[in-house]
Amino acid sequence: MKHLVVTCVALCLVLAGCARPAEEPTVAEEATVVEWERVLPGLMTETQKAQQELMLTAVNALAAELMGELTAALDAGDASAAIGVCRVKAPLVAAHVTEMYGVEIGRTSYRLRNQANVAPSWADAYVADLVEDPTYVGGPNGELGALLPIRLRAECQMCHGPAEDIDEGIQAALAEHYPNDQAMGFAEGDLRGWFWIEAPPGEPEPAETEM
Ligand code: HEC
Repeated sequence: MKHLVVTCVALCLVLAGCARPAEEPTVAEEATVVEWERVLPGLMTETQKAQQELMLTAVNALAAELMGELTAALDAGDASAAIGVCRVKAPLVAAHVTEMYGVEIGRTSYRLRNQANVAPSWADAYVADLVEDPTYVGGPNGELGALLPIRLRAECQMCHGPAEDIDEGIQAALAEHYPNDQAMGFAEGDLRGWFWIEAPPGEPEPAETEM
């Protein structure tokens, strides 16, 4: 089961941040961000542990919902349709997870396919460092951010591997929707990017059970 969940996370969350609207923090908002500081998992407060658990639950929920969509599209033998799942369904799924768990969630990379998949600014330094370990960052008002690495798997290469190995139809669909695509040329095991999740301040409310 654990393995399945991990697989789901790797495979499905792929599409988590699809078409997330670019964040446009105002100058005033940026000015109020005092300092986000890294929190070592062993030194978390009880509230932070609860926030962490909520974030991990939300990531798994997102994975499970997207898994169904992506698998169905790939089973139908149509990778272009899988790209469509990402573009159309994933934002709805991410919004649903945000609504259910009260966390902001998405994916990012140091080599973006969708330029809108930019993480909140607390993640900038860790993205620039290509951080390899799960990283937690506490915000000035008690928020908790998480950056969870995503590695490329063999089954990702049909859309993220070397360009010469990618099917022409997929290449055409990618070129149409992502003219600034930087997300080809990865090899299995490479750091592809991260899930980012942000929990609001305070002890989380118990999540609803219905998905
Ligand atoms: C069917 C094609 C396809 C497959 C297979 C695929 N991806 Fe993607 N991937 C995409 C598309 C399309 C996007 C852009 C989604 C968007 O608009 O947010 C993307 C975006 C991403 C992003 C978000 C960052 C960015 O560059 O925009 C990550 C991370 C990612 N993929 C990882 C993976 C991993 C890991 C796998 C394998 C488990 C995988 N992908 C498999 C098509 C695919």
